[in-house]
Amino acid sequence: MPLVTEGFPFPTTILSEGKVRILVPRATIEGPSLKGPSSRRFPVFYNPGMALNRDLSVLALRVERRLLGREALACDAMAGCGAKGLRLAAEVEGTRILLNDINPMAVRLINYNVRLNALEERAIVRNEDARLLLLERAFREGTLDYVDVDPFGSPAVFVEAALCSLVDGGFLALTATDTAVLNGVHAEACIRKYWAKPLRCEYHHEVGARILLGYTARVAAMHGFGISPLLTERSSHYVRTIVSINRSSKSLRETMNSLGFLFHCHSCFHRHLEPYDHAHKRTGLVCSCGSKLSWAGPLWIGRLGDKAFLKSMLQESEKGAMQEPRRVRRLLELLVDEVEAPPTYFVPQEICKELGIPIPSLKEIALRLQSLGYSFFLTHFSPGSFRTDAPAKALAELLRRG
Ligand SMILES: C[S@@+](CC[C@H](N)C(=O)[O-])C[C@H]1O[C@@H](n2cnc3c(N)ncnc32)[C@H](O)[C@@H]1O
Ligand SMILES: [Zn+2]
Repeated sequence: MPLVTEGFPFPTTILSEGKVRILVPRATIEGPSLKGPSSRRFPVFYNPGMALNRDLSVLALRVERRLLGREALACDAMAGCGAKGLRLAAEVEGTRILLNDINPMAVRLINYNVRLNALEERAIVRNEDARLLLLERAFREGTLDYVDVDPFGSPAVFVEAALCSLVDGGFLALTATDTAVLNGVHAEACIRKYWAKPLRCEYHHEVGARILLGYTARVAAMHGFGISPLLTERSSHYVRTIVSINRSSKSLRETMNSLGFLFHCHSCFHRHLEPYDHAHKRTGLVCSCGSKLSWAGPLWIGRLGDKAFLKSMLQESEKGAMQEPRRVRRLLELLVDEVEAPPTYFVPQEICKELGIPIPSLKEIALRLQSLGYSFFLTHFSPGSFRTDAPAKALAELLRRG
């Protein structure tokens, strides 16, 4: 790999991703662990492991661009070396990109990378706090079609500015790497950042995603508009969602109806979601098995994505330039299959451990469920887990019977 310095006060190297070439700090692709921007070894962030995340941004913007039927203005609000924004400019026809980062050294790299890819005509580079930039867009400079928010940790403090900066129908992509917070390892931090109580349970990855969406929905509703989730995905160290916003009163009403609470029984695996106002009228927190119900929320109780949109992304993925084409397709196919399936998934190991029985194969579980008329869907949230419309009690009986 050629080593270039190009006047940067740290070793750099050029690599390729999708259709672009990017100059990155050499340490970011060498080190076994990424340590953050303040470290001298990692002066600007780049993570090759996030290529899938960037592939999905490209596909989402391609679909949006097709729906718009005009040039799109997108914003990579925390661009790091610019990998995502540059790929959006190079791989989505008819787009202009605003690339921004608060770190001046990142902005030097972004400017270099814009020139390296001859994208000067389609890229505007800024060095601001993303909130200032987005609020300026919201109230002075005209709104954006697509905003990608990909900070270190929680995106919560950027959500309001990002939502307000969008045109009606615009897309907001949020990446959260504070998964331990959303998944309930640090419950207090989750309440502080997302105003929602998390829950440690076998499907806590989904609970975390629903908390992120619920928070986004409440901030949108505060401004009088609604959101519709287009894609929600979880990978090893982040959870990600892309939503469209809609300023109609119908969408606002639907958004409010999609907010509620989760109730879960740790004894019998029963779980259910309840709309906000029903849950508030609830008096007891006892499961039908007699155990105490745990709860989480407020959170998003509606669908986590949109089937038609996900299918369009799949179609776009056939057109090439993906960095991880196989992983992207496999993920999108799973998402298409599970997006309309029942909320919350079951983990066979957990139930079988509780019941003290051997774990059947997923195929066997699917056959048993389907023979009784119940549904069975795999979930991308957790390999080896599944969604079904069978109540927990029926599922336990069916597993016990063998
Ligand atoms: C996870 S990295 C972004 C990675 C990038 N999206 C990619 O795909 O390579 C987070 C970036 O957010 C920037 N950042 C942190 N706080 C910011 C803020 N308030 N406004 C703008 N950028 C910020 C950091 O300097 C860092 O470059
Ligand atoms: Zn119970």
